[in-house]
Amino acid sequence: MASVPSLAATVNQRVSDALSAALPEAGAADPLLRRSDRADFQANGMLALAKKLKGNPRELAGKVVDGIAAPELIKEIEVSGPGFLNITITDESIMKTLAARAADDRLGVPYAKNPGTTVIDYAQPNVAKEMHVGHLRSAVIGDALRHLLDFTGEKTIGRHHIGDWGTQFGMLIQYLIENPGELAPAEDVDGEQAMSNLNRVYKASRTVFDADEEFKERARKRVVALQSGDKETLDLWQRFVDESKVYFYSVFEKLDMEIRDDEIVGESAYNDMMAETARLLEESGVAVRSEGALVVFFDDIKGKDDQPVPLIVQKADGGFGYAASDLSAIRNRVVDLQATTLLYVVDVRQSLHFKMVFETARRMGWLNDQVTAHNMGYGTVLGADGKPFKTRAGETVRLEDLLDEAAQRAAEVVREKARDLTEEEIQERGAQVGIGAVKYADLSTSANRDYKFDLDQMVSLNGDTSVYIQYAYARIQSILRRAGEARPVAHPELPLAPAERALGLHVDQFGEVVLDAAAEYAPHKLTAYLYQLASLYTTFYDQCHVLNEDNAPEVVENRLFLCDVTARTLHRGMALLGIRTPERL
Ligand code: ARG
Repeated sequence: MASVPSLAATVNQRVSDALSAALPEAGAADPLLRRSDRADFQANGMLALAKKLKGNPRELAGKVVDGIAAPELIKEIEVSGPGFLNITITDESIMKTLAARAADDRLGVPYAKNPGTTVIDYAQPNVAKEMHVGHLRSAVIGDALRHLLDFTGEKTIGRHHIGDWGTQFGMLIQYLIENPGELAPAEDVDGEQAMSNLNRVYKASRTVFDADEEFKERARKRVVALQSGDKETLDLWQRFVDESKVYFYSVFEKLDMEIRDDEIVGESAYNDMMAETARLLEESGVAVRSEGALVVFFDDIKGKDDQPVPLIVQKADGGFGYAASDLSAIRNRVVDLQATTLLYVVDVRQSLHFKMVFETARRMGWLNDQVTAHNMGYGTVLGADGKPFKTRAGETVRLEDLLDEAAQRAAEVVREKARDLTEEEIQERGAQVGIGAVKYADLSTSANRDYKFDLDQMVSLNGDTSVYIQYAYARIQSILRRAGEARPVAHPELPLAPAERALGLHVDQFGEVVLDAAAEYAPHKLTAYLYQLASLYTTFYDQCHVLNEDNAPEVVENRLFLCDVTARTLHRGMALLGIRTPERL
């Protein structure tokens, strides 16, 4: 359980020490080390530093070279161009570092420096409504961020802020009272039945609601009964919630995602806090009465005709809405859950809402320098044609159909390559590959951008896809199985081929990428890293035969070691994204 400093960090430290010795007035200067094509690393820091101190960069770089004595680490260091340093490290240091990583369950990845508690609000569908691709994105991104944060030592608490409250429940409940047999008990239905029941009730009640004024009135009274906690009304409301959860869980299961019941805390959970939230806001003057409503104004948020757009905490009729529940949720998360960070994974189209909610919470002191909030607003999911995602008939695509189709397409890809798989295995792998493909496509686009949902591209074996990475992993497993008696053992004394060095140096960067992706809430940095890792492995595989009879036994062991540590890195990295890596494909 020891963290292993990366080669980049070690080299950076050495250069930095030499730099401070050569130029004491520079203090602890950053040599700005980067990976490079010419050598292993390039350091550019001397340029800016010499310029600032009116010195000659080449001269300074030369002094740094003279000051570095680390033969076990640095094989070659030379001044180039206007004053860069090109640095090549020893093969031995690469293998020794990888061996230290391999000895650790976490591959030597350190924990983040100052872990805190992050409450992450993701996967928040709405009761009695079908989930759509937008909900899919929140679930996939949120789940990956959570794995990433957990891995860095952050404590995470999930909150699935489901839409389980609001005036539409008056209509639904009233309809059920008048048509009692319409909703089967939640324990008797599967996900698909639950959703089709809910859909039917929703449509039927909407039809009556729109056509029948008297029903409309009864529905309105029902909302009041619900809000005042009438027992019969609440019981019926609970039935809608339970039935919906059966459906949600079936989708999350398909998504191969673990959702905990105690973390499904929807809008309704904050019902009892809302009046107090409003009172605190009003007493402090942060919110003011305007035309009967309780609202918060912002200087920089204006709508049409330059009119200020306020955040409505309480409507003129006394009702509380979305903002009041979110403000109450912030109080709960900060005070009761002791969060240091509030992270929201919500469609970018709600970013104005969150901007106003966060600013209000800051004015109240609920958010401050120690407790911050971020919305990872994600972009819209588009069809392959670049238009909002719809079926040919122009309807919204059912999420389940989409996931089923992904699994089916992936099964076809698996079948084509499968040599020794049974039909059952093909279907199982198909699901893992297909769901993985959907997740990967989602995660590899930086979240704030729209992305095209193109199944053909997603399950392609070539290009930046999860399937490509899964194949690299399965191929390694197949080599390890075929190795017979030979074990993966690092041999630092052996010289490395270029493809081995490139692979090894990339494996070594895993920890930095993970910490960076977690700190920036940027899973796409990890997907890019893993894709490159799989590509470098493919090059290694083509150029450096592992189980070749002509290889000396220690070469076989050393290459098996590189295979193994690569596989473990791929596996761990994919797991952090919520994607499986089947042992055989
Ligand atoms: N249920 C909402 C929707 O489907 C998303 C909830 C987001 N979270 C929040 N705390 N407001 O649009």
